[in-house]
Amino acid sequence: MKALILQKGDEKENNSFKHQAVLSEIPLPALNPDNDDVLIRLQAVAFNHRDAWIRKGLYSGLQFNSVLGSDGVGIVQETSRSESSHLVGQQVVINPGSGWEKNPIGPENEFGILGLLPLPGTFAEYIAVPRAEIFPVPDHLSVAEAAALPLAGLTAFRATFTKANVQPGDNVLITGIGGGVALIVLSFISSIGANAYVTSSDESKIKKAIELGAKGGVNYKEDQWPKKLKALLPNDRPFLDSVIDSAGGEIVSQTMKFLRPGGIITCYGMTSGSSVSFPMLAVLKNIEFKGSTMGSREEFGRMLNFVKEKKIKPVISGIWHGLENASEIFEIMNRGKQFGKLVVENISPKL
Ligand SMILES: NC(=O)c1ccc[n+]([C@@H]2O[C@H](COP(=O)([O-])OP(=O)(O)OC[C@H]3O[C@@H](n4cnc5c(N)ncnc54)[C@H](OP(=O)(O)O)[C@@H]3O)[C@@H](O)[C@H]2O)c1
Repeated sequence: MKALILQKGDEKENNSFKHQAVLSEIPLPALNPDNDDVLIRLQAVAFNHRDAWIRKGLYSGLQFNSVLGSDGVGIVQETSRSESSHLVGQQVVINPGSGWEKNPIGPENEFGILGLLPLPGTFAEYIAVPRAEIFPVPDHLSVAEAAALPLAGLTAFRATFTKANVQPGDNVLITGIGGGVALIVLSFISSIGANAYVTSSDESKIKKAIELGAKGGVNYKEDQWPKKLKALLPNDRPFLDSVIDSAGGEIVSQTMKFLRPGGIITCYGMTSGSSVSFPMLAVLKNIEFKGSTMGSREEFGRMLNFVKEKKIKPVISGIWHGLENASEIFEIMNRGKQFGKLVVENISPKL
């Protein structure tokens, strides 16, 4: 089968990406009956920033020859146990995490994510995963929308609800709204009647976010953005209840003056740097800083139910046909040109 494989790049080359993603011919995955594995023929897959970090050599636990990709939707083709055979022909979406069943604190076992060995990823014609990790696709989603949901939807759900405990009426700042996760956070909090404020490097993305339900936004490239954001908050509630952050760096200093006492900053990414400073003033205001990474299988199931109930659709920036387009997609992600998820359909020519 065809698959997009991570290969060690020439470190002397001055490319945006240190390592290569090469479309290769590899054997079909084997099914392990001990795991109740099922074979899925992939219909559509989506890219995450993680795929770019991996190619840049900035992700821990790099394994060359891994099939890349964490998001996918497809049709069950074969099962390793006869009692699962009724699933053959069903369309399913795959939980990208492994080793985390339901503990709200963190993974019970060694946590892994599809797309780095020993967990081959979704950028292939076929993937084998345990039956427990597949879920029915919510009816209101197209194939591309379902493929766009898994990793970003799970990360957004845990960060927003499990960690930040966002409630109706809350004022919430979402940083870097052009990102796949950030846009799903926007749809989640708008759907429960909380008020979203956003940051972006691009005025047109702020405008689009307002069209999608945000109350307002500011450009994080401008030094005075926290002051400008404070001015947007309503007079009767001129503070933030929480921040859902993908940037890291100075986010605590930038927001602590207008976070309510005990306000929560949930950080799921550090796109602007690999650490965060936490000033004493934030301690005196009882501000909580919480790290959040993806989520459990149980949260994945709840996220899908929530999406189904609220008829939420992930924002898609573009759809390509065939994994041959991967280089172009990696470049778009590298330049931050996207507004939402980057999806590839027609993964397998037989579909
Ligand atoms: N912990 C986890 O489980 C988890 C899961 C998913 C993602 N992540 C991390 O979260 C981040 C976003 O992931 P994604 O897949 O949503 O990425 P993405 O779709 O590639 O979007 C990245 C976005 O980051 C924003 N950004 C860049 N520099 C920024 C800065 N200095 N301040 C604020 N925003 C900035 C940009 O927003 P604008 O275009 O609006 O400027 C850009 O669109 C990445 O660092 C990723 O590794 C972590």
